[in-house]
Amino acid sequence: MNIAVFASGNGSNFAAIAGAIKKGGIRARLSLLVCDNPAAFVIKRARKAKVKVALVKREDFPAKADFEKEIIKHLKSNHIDLIVMAGFMRMLGKELLKGYKNRILNIHPALLPSFKGASGIKDAFDYGVKVTGVTVHFVDELMDHGPVILQAPVEIEENDTLASLEVKIHQLEHRFYPLAIKLFAEGKLKMQGRRVKVLNP
Ligand code: GRF
Repeated sequence: MNIAVFASGNGSNFAAIAGAIKKGGIRARLSLLVCDNPAAFVIKRARKAKVKVALVKREDFPAKADFEKEIIKHLKSNHIDLIVMAGFMRMLGKELLKGYKNRILNIHPALLPSFKGASGIKDAFDYGVKVTGVTVHFVDELMDHGPVILQAPVEIEENDTLASLEVKIHQLEHRFYPLAIKLFAEGKLKMQGRRVKVLNP
């Protein structure tokens, strides 16, 4: 199974996934990084890990559909089976959603449907909730909305700061996202409407 990670920024999840695949245990190859931001640190991480990079900038295309068609060309030529979104700061449009239905994963740093959007960790912290967490889900046409695959809680303790909470969330993400990919690669995720059944994890 060939995986493409989509990322726009730091890429710590990219590194965690690359590391987990290198260690063995996930029946997949990390074949491609799709990035829309030439300044993203994730590009350096990919080069170091010897993963091919497709840099596709939105501003180079008149319409979103053309931007996505260019991405799809890269996915096709690299025989990609699974898209893993890890900090890709764009909503996917019809072209990609249609072509890769139920084959696109996303990770969100909160317990969906709470605290959707680009600042899930800060929003949960500022709200004052006692428990937040991490969600891995399939991607659909709405933001942070598709069927939930895995969720795990993170407690916000009295002495936590936003920075310490960010560390806890990211540590959990880095263990959790490779696990979800492993389950997908083993064919252990079964869709039942909006519900995802995990077969003997
Ligand atoms: C992660 O917190 C992820 O949950 C969110 O974007 C962040 C990406 O971080 N979707 P990184 O680029 O993988 O370090």
